Amino acid sequence: MVALVAVENLVKHFPVKRSLADVVAGRHPVVHAVDNVSFTLDENETVGLLGESGCGKTSTGRLLLKLDQPTSGRIEIAGKDLATLAGADLKAFRRTAQLVFQNPFDALNPRFNIRRVLAEPMINAGIDRREYADRINAELARVRMQGVGDLLDKFPHQLSGGQLQRIVLARALILGPKFIVADEPVSMLDVSVRAGVLNLMREIQETLGLTAIYISHDLALVRYVAARTFVMYLATVVEDGPTEQVISSPQHPYTKALLAAVPVPHVNQNREPLPIKGNMPNARNPPSGCRFHDRCPMAIARCAAEVPALREIEPGHRAACHLA
Ligand SMILES: Nc1ncnc2c1ncn2[C@@H]1O[C@H](COP(=O)(O)OP(=O)(O)O)[C@@H](O)[C@H]1O
Ligand SMILES: [Mg+2]
Repeated sequence: MVALVAVENLVKHFPVKRSLADVVAGRHPVVHAVDNVSFTLDENETVGLLGESGCGKTSTGRLLLKLDQPTSGRIEIAGKDLATLAGADLKAFRRTAQLVFQNPFDALNPRFNIRRVLAEPMINAGIDRREYADRINAELARVRMQGVGDLLDKFPHQLSGGQLQRIVLARALILGPKFIVADEPVSMLDVSVRAGVLNLMREIQETLGLTAIYISHDLALVRYVAARTFVMYLATVVEDGPTEQVISSPQHPYTKALLAAVPVPHVNQNREPLPIKGNMPNARNPPSGCRFHDRCPMAIARCAAEVPALREIEPGHRAACHLA
């Protein structure tokens, strides 16, 4: 296996508005969106990024696609350092790495018909106009939208949510990407059409051999599509491993709490819920040591003092907990 994506000590802090007290004290407060995240993804691998709202999933995905610049740390994709990517290399990267948006209603320009929506990436990439029609047809077939009447002349608002998400997918695939980040890809869709879109995404990912990151707060979705799962809490990865292992033997107390909060078929019927205290701390002032320590029912003194490293508990399964 070849590592397609290598992330080292990735950090993203967003500056926030300074209060008078901040100015007086000379402080420059920031929101910790991503803190010291490191991992590698193999070619063809499908991983899930799981965590509650605000834990840094979208920020991580945007950094990986160079839609945002990291505060520090390093991202290499196919052996190239994203920080120094420019010119023709950057253009090539934009073709190979694509984002599937969270909300298909926002993702498409409402004033473009579907033909134009699908042509847009090809126009930007400078592809020969004569190729447009064939490529559009091929992608429509792939997302099972071929032969839908006068589809290409319709505008986004004339399509259903499920149809729109298929068009969003076709648009993401039209330049032949190698790497896809799907950010909450079905969260805006009716439950009745979610499974169809997810099935399609999984099938496409397998046939095209894409490396894919699925970002979601929904364990069932991640379990369905991802072979490996990363659990994030407050800008850090607290656990990662083969999805089924993470679900059947979670090692981090946060993962345990997260799993206990949702019914997982065949896994946790008899599991005692783990009481988790309080609310998610403010991402401006993350707790010292283990970021979960003040909510963790098992915390010991060391947890407040020392940041736990992400270490291997069993092959391929890591957790950042002093007690794991
Ligand atoms: N452009 C931004 N400016 C300031 N803060 C941001 C920005 N984008 C995200 N954040 C903050 O960074 C943290 C992580 O956000 P995000 O990556 O969107 O989380 P998730 O996708 O897991 O919900 C949150 O506290 C969020 O408010
Ligand atoms: Mg998000």
